[in-house]
Amino acid sequence: MIDLTKVIKTTAAPGSEDQATPSRASSAIQLINPKSEVARRGQALQLNYSAAVGLQEVLKSNLGPKGTIKMLVDGAGGIKITKDGKVLLSEMQIQNPTAAMIARAATAQDEITGDGTTGVVLLVGELLKQAERYTSEGLHPRIVTEGFEVAKQAALSFLDSFGVTPTRDREELVSVARTALRTKVSETLADTLTEAVVDAVRAINLSDSPIDLHMVEIMKMQHRSESDSRLVRGLVLDHGPRHPDMPKRVTNAYILTLNVSLEYEKTEVNSGFFYSSAEQRDKLVESERRFVDAKLRKLVEFKNEVCGGDPTRGFVIINQKGIDPLSLDVLAKHNIFALRRAKRRNMERLQLVCGGIAQNSVDDLTPDVLGHAGLVYEHVLGEEKYTFVEEVKDPKSVTLLIKGPNPHSIAQINDAVRDGLRAVKNALEDPYLVPGAGAFQVACAAHLRGEVAANLKGRAQMGVQAFADALLIVPKVLAQNAGFDAQDTIVKLQDEHREGHVVGIDLKTGDVLDPRTEGIWDNYRVIRHQLHSCAVIASNLLLVDEMLRAGRTSLKPESDALMQQ
Ligand SMILES: Nc1ncnc2c1ncn2[C@@H]1O[C@H](COP(=O)(O)OP(=O)(O)OP(=O)(O)O)[C@@H](O)[C@H]1O
Ligand SMILES: [Mg+2]
Repeated sequence: MIDLTKVIKTTAAPGSEDQATPSRASSAIQLINPKSEVARRGQALQLNYSAAVGLQEVLKSNLGPKGTIKMLVDGAGGIKITKDGKVLLSEMQIQNPTAAMIARAATAQDEITGDGTTGVVLLVGELLKQAERYTSEGLHPRIVTEGFEVAKQAALSFLDSFGVTPTRDREELVSVARTALRTKVSETLADTLTEAVVDAVRAINLSDSPIDLHMVEIMKMQHRSESDSRLVRGLVLDHGPRHPDMPKRVTNAYILTLNVSLEYEKTEVNSGFFYSSAEQRDKLVESERRFVDAKLRKLVEFKNEVCGGDPTRGFVIINQKGIDPLSLDVLAKHNIFALRRAKRRNMERLQLVCGGIAQNSVDDLTPDVLGHAGLVYEHVLGEEKYTFVEEVKDPKSVTLLIKGPNPHSIAQINDAVRDGLRAVKNALEDPYLVPGAGAFQVACAAHLRGEVAANLKGRAQMGVQAFADALLIVPKVLAQNAGFDAQDTIVKLQDEHREGHVVGIDLKTGDVLDPRTEGIWDNYRVIRHQLHSCAVIASNLLLVDEMLRAGRTSLKPESDALMQQ
């Protein structure tokens, strides 16, 4: 990474004012604070430019399905393997202020739209690179940014006309998820996850409310291989029944969600009652027990009432509070599958999955507070126990079960699945889908160079040209990462586009393809946000004419500074 301090001290942009006239070079700030570090005009621009291009170089190789992977090692030796721009930018230590600013904008892109981080970094770098071609010839940065603004507006409205109105059927959503997942994990693995991701979002998509992805629980299990990851239409709880005689598997089950303590309270702590002899204590325990027993009796009676004598009907109690061993004994004896200390979050989810209403007391239990699941079973993995609640009718919350042989592959799938889920959600909510594989960028660049530039008078045209050229970075890098020549590919794409086709790159052959028929789709909001934020950041960076580091630290006495060296 580029360290601002060093660069300021050692480099000066060729031909910059600072070199030419040293007397004028010292900024006014240095009158106030002689120890401040200042970079001006051409030099400031040069710094921003090299930081943006530096960051672009780092992330370039990760773009697209053929992008390579980075291995991040943290201070404690932990390993993270990823090609996700968001993960890389938030986990890398970036010291250069300009690079950090771009990284922040790119991670914001991920937070808002869920994708397109690498694209932002590439585009900002390229916008500066293209702008520098003009500014180095003496064009004022302000004129370039005016051109950027015109180009951005034109690109945004072109996007609306280029986008395709989605059908939002399953097949189309599968294509969207496939495109997103294949940019993150290998093709075969992506294909096993694609349908699970689409079905998960479809299950929680209720027509009357916005999609809440929290309703898709992601459960990680270190077990077997990645390809065993699947969608569970129900819930997976990360604990099991604590009694050896309890049934391990029940079918056609009623589910009672409880928040009732079924354990003998620790009297010494919880009551103001004192005892002075063993008999008194026994009495106390007995009366406590009686209290718990009464609750258990009610539960057992209720179970017998709803299940009748039907041996195929299961009865499951999932309790947020504790159940002590004696109570577990009683429940096991009556063939009840009981879980204690369920997480609060799961209690809420359970009602969405199985139906029913959580109960705070065992009085007045009626059959309509019960949920239902076709299958509830315990799954033991070494030390860990899991409970699966499956075969549920119409669940409003589902679980994606991610399996993998080691923590880093689980983390990698987890990131990919998150991207996939958000891509499907965006596709369901956005007014358009955008043909991917570089098709939008090629078409938009041609539109900007053609109609937009032709209708624009004056020097702002140059900014529009620069913007158009910068957009082509996406198809160029996609081609490079797949091992093809960037220029050849761009020429091929532009030729085909001139004949009126929608064309993207076929990363297998290096030829052109129609992303609409191949099902390569980008999200509308991702591209929209990219265009908008990149133009803004690039303009801001171009307009910086002075960069100062004049904080309190540089006012430290000389001796301090020497000590630190
Ligand atoms: N099968 C494909 N063939 C060609 N291009 C593709 C294909 N699938 C995706 N792309 C393109 O890859 C680009 C997205 O790549 P990628 O997901 O690596 O970057 P990003 O979305 O900018 O960043 P990130 O996902 O890391 O936040 C898009 O331009 C998309 O059109
Ligand atoms: Mg992406």
